[in-house]
Amino acid sequence: MKRTKLLVLALLVCGAAWSQEIKNNKGTIDAKVAELLSKMTLEEKVGQMTQITVTIFEDPAKPGYFDPAKLKQGIQDYHIGSILNVPNPGAPTIQRWQETLTAISNEANKTRLKIPVLYGIDAIHGASYTAGATLFPQQIGLAATYNTDLVKRGAEISAYETRASSIPWVFSPDLDFPRNPAWSRMWESFGEDAYLSSKMAVALVDGFEGTSVGSKYSVASCMKHYIGYGSTYSGKDRTPSIIPERLLRQYDLTIYQAAIKAGAKSVMVSSGEINGTPVHASKHLITDILKKELDFQGVVVTDWKDIIYLYTRHKVAESKRDAVRIAIMAGIDMSMVPEEFSFYTDLVDLVKKGEVPMSRIDDAVTRILRMKYELNLFQNSVANLKDYPKFGSAEHIQEAYNTAAESITLLKNNASALPLNKNEKILVTGATANSMKYLNGGWSYTWQGENSDTYAADKSTILEAFQNKLGKENVLYTPGADLEKEDDAEIQKAVELAKTATKIVLCLGEKNYTETPGDISDLYMSSSQIKLALALSKLGKPIVLVLNEGRPRLISDFEDKMSAVVQCYLPGNEGGRALVDILYGDVNPSGRLPYNYPKYPNSLEKYNRKYTESISEGEQNNDAKYEKSYSPQFEFGTGLSYTTFAYSNLKIDKSEITTSDEVNVTIDVTNSGSKAGKEAVLLYLSDNVASITPEVKALKRFDKISLAPGETKTVKFTLNQKDLQFVNEDLKWISEKGTFTVQIGNQKKDFLLK
Ligand code: BGC
Repeated sequence: MKRTKLLVLALLVCGAAWSQEIKNNKGTIDAKVAELLSKMTLEEKVGQMTQITVTIFEDPAKPGYFDPAKLKQGIQDYHIGSILNVPNPGAPTIQRWQETLTAISNEANKTRLKIPVLYGIDAIHGASYTAGATLFPQQIGLAATYNTDLVKRGAEISAYETRASSIPWVFSPDLDFPRNPAWSRMWESFGEDAYLSSKMAVALVDGFEGTSVGSKYSVASCMKHYIGYGSTYSGKDRTPSIIPERLLRQYDLTIYQAAIKAGAKSVMVSSGEINGTPVHASKHLITDILKKELDFQGVVVTDWKDIIYLYTRHKVAESKRDAVRIAIMAGIDMSMVPEEFSFYTDLVDLVKKGEVPMSRIDDAVTRILRMKYELNLFQNSVANLKDYPKFGSAEHIQEAYNTAAESITLLKNNASALPLNKNEKILVTGATANSMKYLNGGWSYTWQGENSDTYAADKSTILEAFQNKLGKENVLYTPGADLEKEDDAEIQKAVELAKTATKIVLCLGEKNYTETPGDISDLYMSSSQIKLALALSKLGKPIVLVLNEGRPRLISDFEDKMSAVVQCYLPGNEGGRALVDILYGDVNPSGRLPYNYPKYPNSLEKYNRKYTESISEGEQNNDAKYEKSYSPQFEFGTGLSYTTFAYSNLKIDKSEITTSDEVNVTIDVTNSGSKAGKEAVLLYLSDNVASITPEVKALKRFDKISLAPGETKTVKFTLNQKDLQFVNEDLKWISEKGTFTVQIGNQKKDFLLK
């Protein structure tokens, strides 16, 4: 007892000392920033707000290498504060990154105030622009793990390997909240649920920034793309959104709030427009909500060329100069210009003529300098490679493998088609069966990820993972189909080969893409691939459909003819191995879908739909009937295992609560099968009657547990008042009296809010 008290006291003292140290450090940094700011000219300040892409400084005759005169002009004459992106032709080694950052740092040291240049990069699934880095599943796969510890660990590794590349700032996590699954960046998000997205966002921010962002193993994160970017009604990238502020607050904003609370150092603004206002021009969204209401103290950076686009695309500005004024007055701190210097020239002029006040410039530069101090860039702006022995190490690769293995989601398994047996003759076919670029997707080595097969030549495609497991001679393979081009002869070849196989593993999906190059007009799987699936299905042999895709391409034309369906999303460099280990039962699958997989293009309801979203069968029908017209191909949260889990004993500690109570919920989960397995336990809550039409159910908590055969664990969740609230017509979070239903697995229980 005495020892416990002493321990508690010691912890309190340490905690207090720690928070005092953070405060002191903040105080010191603020003082340093103020002092430096006071010495700066207007030109030096505006330079800090200017971000330029690295390729602008390259020597065209020597791709990937600087033209010293150009670099000098950018850093010395324009005083630029930040550089981004990957040099040509993509993905330098850590040694080349070190040389690149050294050249930048040397140039910055020649300036009057020696302010370091902040380098930012799209390291979105590992240090994905560095050759030899460990590449993890893309974000949609991270969400499918429902395992925040694993995701945080991955972000720590990603931070380590990015800093090993001498880069201190990553444009991640992606906090977009896609409302149309056709969107080309669906896979960069955490899927369709705001709570799951918030938890994953916090895991990434914590992992990236660590306990001290200035450590040589941490990086500053950048939440993106604030806000509403993923909600275009056309489903096409960078097209307009219409989002009532009530919904923006109830869903999208909560994800940012969680990440800001976790300490996210910066945010990138959405290239889109909401309700007719481009977000880059919205003082309401950037200054009033983000900076004032949410008290965000970090750096607000634009997305690529987005100030110029206010003039050339959105047509809300009369000139580039006018666009700069609008964006800076909306609250932008740094412009990703990024291919010329007009932003700098225009902003200097705007301040001189009194059209932008110096106070706005000082606010922006204070934020930028603070981040540079916090990142310790004044002391340490280039990596010492000796500090990074674990770059691309077996230990890191194992973590990426574990993450891929926990993300891969078994959606259907009829007649135990899976796991496969090593004695079965397997035909591996399909357009995605033998390519690293489809496993990695975009933002891998290059923007569109087209060179993954070269950079990751030592990694296993799905086919190679089969061959490694079974021996090359024991695996039948033919591509069967192209992703787009129809080829009947190739289909026929696959059919003939399939006749000699026991089972078919059919790998379908999508090309590598991101942003507008990934726009589609048809959510169905491409017809060349559907044709292959239908032709093979005529043989009557078990087909295991492996989906390797960034968004749910519709498979309703042939899904009923597939014995098993496995979603592997974009699992990264270790994904082929993890998938094949799952197919053979060496790993028990435990991923769950982070979105509703639609069946039809006009039925894109989310799992947390309103009751009226399935009204098509008629007002007279009872609730159960309404429910039937809502039928996604696979629902949010679907995820099978090779073992079975039984849920029992759902208990709530109070049947009635007041507006100050918490609710403790417990449930027993038993592995009722014969294989050890992991289970993501999901708690949904329904507010049964509310003045704003309630969601049918909403995810409020989750936990991932491991269970040996026969083992039972009691999982405990605590719900708080915020969980009972929604945003009302006056844009206020409120709860209302009445019954709430808790649902976990097949168990349900009500409580009353008095
Ligand atoms: C993308 C951002 C990215 C930026 C920098 C933009 O086109 O929308 O997500 O961070 O480029 O590469």
